[in-house]
Amino acid sequence: MKTMTKENLKSAFAGESQAHMKYLIFADTAEKEGKPNIARLFRAIAYAEQVHATNHFKALQELNGTPDNLQAAINGENFEVDEMYPAYDAVAKLQDEKTAEKSFHYAIEAEKIHAALYDEAKKLAQNDNDIDGEEVYVCPICGYTVKGTSPDKCPVCGVSKDKFAKF
Ligand SMILES: [Fe+2]
Ligand SMILES: [Fe+2]
Repeated sequence: MKTMTKENLKSAFAGESQAHMKYLIFADTAEKEGKPNIARLFRAIAYAEQVHATNHFKALQELNGTPDNLQAAINGENFEVDEMYPAYDAVAKLQDEKTAEKSFHYAIEAEKIHAALYDEAKKLAQNDNDIDGEEVYVCPICGYTVKGTSPDKCPVCGVSKDKFAKF
């Protein structure tokens, strides 16, 4: 693929991905304000942006099988844990930006677990196996992720067990 087109697809993928997330967050706000139909419109268009992002990603021809996808996920999580968030956290501390510091802290704690979960999955997927059927629980406040059963309290942010999202 020609360089400019490839860069444009990457940029469009990033933009559509962000729009997708933003619209889902805006939908939650509309819902809380008692405007369920505006929320629905945001969710519908968020889905359309997901379709666009998916098309751009596929056009980049970066889609592989699950073992390779797991390795790509591991690389991304490890980069966040080893380089990105420690550096972002240091800058936030230096600039006394407490909200950003907390947000980065929540993320780095979860990413460590994500890398480990993906690593475990990759070992099985390499031999064409799936992982076990255990449920995965995610803290809605900090993103802490755990397989099996949710803890009584989130070990990272302290939120109670009943708030966890189940997958
Ligand atoms: Fe992650
Ligand atoms: Fe949490």
